[in-house]
Amino acid sequence: MTFYPIQDYGPVMKGMVIGGLGIFHVFLAQMAIGGGMILCYFEWLRRTRRSPGAGRFIGGYFQALVLVSFVLGAVTGVAMWFTSIQVSPRTIGVLVDEFHWIWATEWTFFCVEVVAGYAFLRYHDRLSDRSRAMVLFFYAMASWFSLFWINGILSFQLTPGNWLAGHSMWAGFFNPTFWPSLFYRTVASMAIAALAACVVINIAGPHERDERQELIKRAVLFLAPMALMPVFGAWFLAAMPADSRSWAMGGNVTMTMFLGMGVGASLLIGLYALAAILRPGFYISGYTASLLLALAFMASAGGEFVREGVRKPYSIRQVMYSNSIKQDDLERMRVTGSTIDDPYPLRDSASYANDQLRLGAKVYRVQCSVCHTKRGANGLVELTSSWTIDQKRMNIAQLQRTKPFMPPFAGPPREVEALVQLLGWMSAGEPASWPETSDPAALARIQGWLDLVGVTPGIELMRTGARDRTAAGLLHALATSRSEAR
Ligand code: HEC
Repeated sequence: MTFYPIQDYGPVMKGMVIGGLGIFHVFLAQMAIGGGMILCYFEWLRRTRRSPGAGRFIGGYFQALVLVSFVLGAVTGVAMWFTSIQVSPRTIGVLVDEFHWIWATEWTFFCVEVVAGYAFLRYHDRLSDRSRAMVLFFYAMASWFSLFWINGILSFQLTPGNWLAGHSMWAGFFNPTFWPSLFYRTVASMAIAALAACVVINIAGPHERDERQELIKRAVLFLAPMALMPVFGAWFLAAMPADSRSWAMGGNVTMTMFLGMGVGASLLIGLYALAAILRPGFYISGYTASLLLALAFMASAGGEFVREGVRKPYSIRQVMYSNSIKQDDLERMRVTGSTIDDPYPLRDSASYANDQLRLGAKVYRVQCSVCHTKRGANGLVELTSSWTIDQKRMNIAQLQRTKPFMPPFAGPPREVEALVQLLGWMSAGEPASWPETSDPAALARIQGWLDLVGVTPGIELMRTGARDRTAAGLLHALATSRSEAR
């Protein structure tokens, strides 16, 4: 297995860095996609003289759209690459290997989007009506298609589907969550863009209130497809694996909370829109529109968090664990250890009291640091501080049983022990001297715990009910599930 340098963000979890950036990026990108559709519609209104204020709006909206979503969207997009390459180079490697043509296609569409966008910004007042419409249409089409292509790769990570059987690129691309996710994101894009349009109409629209009102009425039409969100959301949930669904629906407090936040915020927007549309002579002020846009941001933040979260313990389901270790590497590492091939020294090597602690720090870096910090967000020292030493040994050796959204531990007993010692040393305040341990009885106990759960993924233990059993029951369940698999 190839090792890559691992970036350490200190007290901030790697997932939070990617997630935080990703939420901004997705929100801006979706605003740009829905924005393209709205602009086409308003251009049509302008050309057919159905709406006197449409021309003013197009210029203002396009500038806001170009400045905000293009520039920031592109910057955060590059930042996404930059961080995901640092956090999970092996995952990106698999995706690039499997989908390089898809990615090349996506980039082509992105280029069309950029060129069309720039052409419109620069020349829209010099173009004939027909050419203007064409340029906007190309812009809108290309931005939606860049969603189409990237959506296949993102949804593949959660549900690789039939790709697992024969590694067919199209089977991976048109995977079980491809369509619900595409439809959901399209509707979300339209809603975000509609709310952004209401903000822009208030700020840069016509001066006369009735003209603004007329434009807002038109823009709000793009909120109407939100009525289908529950359908697409339910379809998405139904298409995802049962264990993933269970995290979001009560199994994990944080993920359930974020799902609730997403659903709640969307519901508020939907209800407001409904009330607004039904009321004669309604108007959405700049403040209200901004507030609704903030709610839409929360809704997409919740959605993205859940989508990333429910994939645990995998970065690509059934292919690669979140810490970039594959199942067969994991089985080998149980014997050889997870750190022997890691060529990178510890940055703070001298600060550890002995070699065992240094080994523990490397084990942490390879296996845990993608989801935990030592002391900080989801910090291991805090999580284990109330445990006795044997509890630490057992719960880490049986990591996938402790929490099924963690991968199985990928090392022999001495690596478990090194990690346990590291945590003990850190919670004791990192004293300058700390004895190395090599108690054969303790190592044998750890081996026993490791063997008991084996290398079976936690979600598999959960499915077979083995996770809840006592040691004897666990052994029995594992034996039967193995013979079933055969
Ligand atoms: C796929 C991401 C992931 C990886 C990899 C991972 N963990 Fe976790 N771990 C979590 C999450 C999420 C929690 C839940 C935290 C919570 O409940 O607040 C957790 C919880 C824990 C807990 C607390 C369990 C409890 O019952 O309270 C411990 C201890 C722990 N992890 C240790 C480790 C160690 C040691 C490693 C590396 C060998 C590791 N984890 C690797 C995601 C991960």
